[in-house]
Amino acid sequence: MSSSVSAVQRGRAAGRKTAPGPILLMGAPGVGKGTQAKELVKLWGIPQISTGDLLRANVAQDTSLGRVAKEIMGRGELVPDSLVDEMVAVRLQQPDAAKGYILDGFPRTLGQAGWLDGRLAAQPKPLPVVAVSIQVDYNQLLRRITGRRNCPVCQTIYNIYVNPPRRDGFCDVEGAALVQRADDTEQVFKERMRAYAALTAPVVEHYRALGRFAEVNGDRPIAEVAAGIVAAVERLRETA
Ligand code: AP5
Ligand code: MG
Repeated sequence: MSSSVSAVQRGRAAGRKTAPGPILLMGAPGVGKGTQAKELVKLWGIPQISTGDLLRANVAQDTSLGRVAKEIMGRGELVPDSLVDEMVAVRLQQPDAAKGYILDGFPRTLGQAGWLDGRLAAQPKPLPVVAVSIQVDYNQLLRRITGRRNCPVCQTIYNIYVNPPRRDGFCDVEGAALVQRADDTEQVFKERMRAYAALTAPVVEHYRALGRFAEVNGDRPIAEVAAGIVAAVERLRETA
């Protein structure tokens, strides 16, 4: 996979004096949150915090959280707020999140948004949140979900239709056999879309109403989407 963030953008990011702060990447299942978060990590040097990835790690390690989450995720429903909030709270305490982070897939209920807003507001020097919602139509999302393959070692995300690995079925970086997520079926995708429409779409409206919010067209090459997100975040930061 090619790197999508330009040298010019890297140079500008390196010259920034202020911390990037919390950035929320929002959008439907398969819209490209994880792909874009990895690009932004390279640019801003702040961590990606993906609640989906954290939950899958708990499932893989067979923790008590993972045992609860496994079946819920397999059905395409959302894990209860209290469990996800606690998991995020632990992750946010790690030192690498002090100057900012990219939240990928959190918050996705109004309850989670209220929890995050309250937590940020309680900080001595609150950093303003910037929220970016990525847009892709339903048929493209389905194609992205069913075509996705992941490296279980380095977490690189591929797509057999759009950005396949050089060697079919194996990671370009690690050489590991690629895997397909258990919830990347058409049936579970439909459930995830239902959960998104019912519970997460109102969260997008919440951040739109607060301001410092942008929509970005995700139906473009990965590099162009990344450039669109960077431009939106920089513009919103200037007006914050
Ligand atoms: P999660 O892992 O967050 O899944 P999701 O929101 O459904 O999003 P995805 O990870 O499927 O897609 P993505 O937007 O990251 O797209 P990606 O970059 O991979 O959550 C999974 C489950 O965990 C939930 O259903 C729920 O049960 C639970 N959960 C997680 N967070 C929770 C929370 N906060 N509260 C409660 N429960 C929670 O890209 C997709 C594909 O498209 C890839 O193949 C990629 O290569 C390709 N692609 C990306 N960009 C492009 C592009 N520009 N052009 C062409 N192809 C592209
Ligand atoms: Mg993801």
